[in-house]
Amino acid sequence: MSPLRPAGAAAQEPRAAIAVFASGSGSNFEAIAAACADGRLAARVALLVCDKPGAPVCGRAERLGIETFVFDPHAYPSKAAFEGEIVRRLDAARVRLVCLAGYMRLVGETLLGAYGGRIVNIHPSLLPAFKGAHAIRDAFDYGVRVYGVTIHRVDASLDGGPIVAQRAFDYAGRDREELERRVHAVEHVLYVETIGQLLKEQDKG
Ligand code: GRF
Repeated sequence: MSPLRPAGAAAQEPRAAIAVFASGSGSNFEAIAAACADGRLAARVALLVCDKPGAPVCGRAERLGIETFVFDPHAYPSKAAFEGEIVRRLDAARVRLVCLAGYMRLVGETLLGAYGGRIVNIHPSLLPAFKGAHAIRDAFDYGVRVYGVTIHRVDASLDGGPIVAQRAFDYAGRDREELERRVHAVEHVLYVETIGQLLKEQDKG
């Protein structure tokens, strides 16, 4: 067995190439990469796409030796232009599934035209409640008692598109940092499980 092959990986090779898009911390990116490395996911992160040069996620990718396309959107004449470059790189890496994980940008028609139906996003609320960039804080401030995480297919709308998976948990505390840790812990498990299921569905055709 090749030393590069993770323990417990399924017999079928090559492993499915996935891409992760992120703009910030990258804890979900790292959780997905870790699951690929230890064989919980029969996939490999072929590409990190990041629209924020210097974001912490880029350091994680460098440490893990994962190929990265970092770009400054302002350096391109249009969204179509930078999405065209992203599509070329996804095609070159033969990416089967695009996983948005804190990518703070609406996906445009160039990317949707090429990869529509194969792009998913993770959002830290039980959609359709609390869309937007501050979902955890908004739910906390509202005083909800059931929080959760949603994974959905991506369309052109903000946090829209058909829901693929959700996981809820009770939290009645008033410590937002603790709540955020719990949300992220759920995200890291649910995203890995869901990516695995989606790749299996693709395999079945
Ligand atoms: C996560 O809460 C995700 O649900 C949201 O953005 C956050 C990204 O966190 N879309 P991280 O960068 O993966 O740590």
